[in-house]
Amino acid sequence: MTLHIAIDGPAGAGKSTVAQRVAKRLSIPYIDTGAMYRCVTWSALVKNISLQDEYLLAELAQSLSIKFVPNDQGQLIYLDGQNVTSAIRTSEIGALVSTIAAYPLVRKTLVVRQRKMVDESSGVVMDGRDIGTYVLPFAEVKVYLTASLETRARRRYEELILKGYTGTYEDVLHVIEQRDESDERRTASPLRKASDALLLDTTTLTIDEVVAIISSLCVTRQSRKRS
Ligand code: CDP
Repeated sequence: MTLHIAIDGPAGAGKSTVAQRVAKRLSIPYIDTGAMYRCVTWSALVKNISLQDEYLLAELAQSLSIKFVPNDQGQLIYLDGQNVTSAIRTSEIGALVSTIAAYPLVRKTLVVRQRKMVDESSGVVMDGRDIGTYVLPFAEVKVYLTASLETRARRRYEELILKGYTGTYEDVLHVIEQRDESDERRTASPLRKASDALLLDTTTLTIDEVVAIISSLCVTRQSRKRS
């Protein structure tokens, strides 16, 4: 199926889980653009690059080798050959990533890379904040996933607890709230629902239900493409 599927939405709405499942169902690659912003943040910390230096951060975004490797549980992320799948998902990176994602030069660099990945594959599921509005405005399927702030914070808190997080639910809620605000308010391609995206509130939906809705949307679009 040569479809381009754009999934956007705020933190904890379920984008990456749903995107991975849809990609697997359709046997097409899944590109996690949030992981790319997280990789730049993580690498800047490791290399002691100032998080205020937009130019150096954009250079870093250009030079990193980022690879997505699917496995049974989902997909692994390799940064310059190192498995950073867990390292980039800590609460520390979560609290810093939106600052870096707000820099226009960093975004420009990563968007060029993201579009190149799309050009190299026939069909893709891509998730992030600006996919339907900016990275893939031509995507045949666009979905904006959201859920109440409390539900999203609860989901993220439970995810982090499984990884040994020792902070509180309130801490997680606060970071998510700040990240949403930064993502929605920045001037460079802010988080926004594309006018032609389907709005899906996942507060009371299971992952299976969301995957089923998106999959049936894909089938409809695909048959329209053929006719
Ligand atoms: O998984 P979660 O929704 O928490 O976040 P993510 O998808 O890993 O994205 C982390 C951060 O990267 C977001 O809060 C945004 O600041 C930034 N991001 C972005 O600006 N544009 C994208 N296309 C993807 C992520």
